[in-house]
Amino acid sequence: METTIALNTGARMPMLGLGLYKMSADGEAENAIRSAAMIGYRLFDTASVYKNEDATGRGIAACGVPREELFVTTKVWNNAQRIGNIESAFERSLDRLGLDYVDLYLVHWPVPGCYLDTWRVLEGLYRSGRARAIGVSNFNEYQLDDLLLHADVVPAVNQIEYHPLFNQDGIRRFCQQNGIVVQAYAPLARGAYLDRDVLRVIAEKYHRSTAQVGLRWILQKGCPVIPKSTREDRILENSQIFDFELDPMEMEAIDSLNENYRSASIPEDLL
Ligand SMILES: NC(=O)c1ccc[n+]([C@@H]2O[C@H](COP(=O)([O-])OP(=O)(O)OC[C@H]3O[C@@H](n4cnc5c(N)ncnc54)[C@H](OP(=O)(O)O)[C@@H]3O)[C@@H](O)[C@H]2O)c1
Repeated sequence: METTIALNTGARMPMLGLGLYKMSADGEAENAIRSAAMIGYRLFDTASVYKNEDATGRGIAACGVPREELFVTTKVWNNAQRIGNIESAFERSLDRLGLDYVDLYLVHWPVPGCYLDTWRVLEGLYRSGRARAIGVSNFNEYQLDDLLLHADVVPAVNQIEYHPLFNQDGIRRFCQQNGIVVQAYAPLARGAYLDRDVLRVIAEKYHRSTAQVGLRWILQKGCPVIPKSTREDRILENSQIFDFELDPMEMEAIDSLNENYRSASIPEDLL
């Protein structure tokens, strides 16, 4: 399996990245980035709402990997999705990250009545080269249809919750048919599936952990993963997913675990 995937921009995105949600800015994020970079991670996923873009920037600067080999993602939060605010929110993210471009800038959530205008601004950022790719997150099929109808630039990525307990195969297929990469967030369901017997049996066969089997199942669906861990041993464990392969029966057995379980909550301002 390839360790990168082609985006519709022509760029390649790593199939594995480090998620930074909930990492504190007082050294935790920097240490995790340094460990991950040493292990071979090249993609780091943050967001303005995570309040650790500055720490992410410091981690990236200190990790010893040249900027052009890294893939940095951040996202515009819901309360900035008003015309006139989005570009300045982007500038502030760049400042905090200490970067002059990001590799991927995402609309964090589809704010009703706003996301089409937000997308227009992101298209401008893409054309300026300061966002090398633009995409969306948490968009369903209906919202993507709406966006595709109005957009000049097709999103490169839709970052959604995707794991064995929340097998969003409808939206995954729709995106893949439209040249949009589905990047799986909360790929470990924040630990919720790690004790499942189906996964334990498969994990034993390959001498792997259930976390590695879950991540591998996602990769074999064609989706990149961004597991979060602050622990070096787990950052390493989560990266060891490219050297074994699940067979079709194992893939199907894991498919059957789906229960539409969502581990990430929908922000209150969208309810
Ligand atoms: N776009 C969005 O709306 C959105 C929403 C949610 C998340 N995300 C992105 O996706 C990333 C990942 O999602 P997530 O952080 O919500 O959840 P996750 O990656 O599914 O799970 C993280 C949790 O699992 C633990 N963990 C990590 N590796 C493990 C392993 N090998 N064995 C057992 N436990 C393990 C971590 O604890 P330790 O740190 O203690 O190891 C942490 O508590 C986020 O960090 C963020 O970048 C995006």
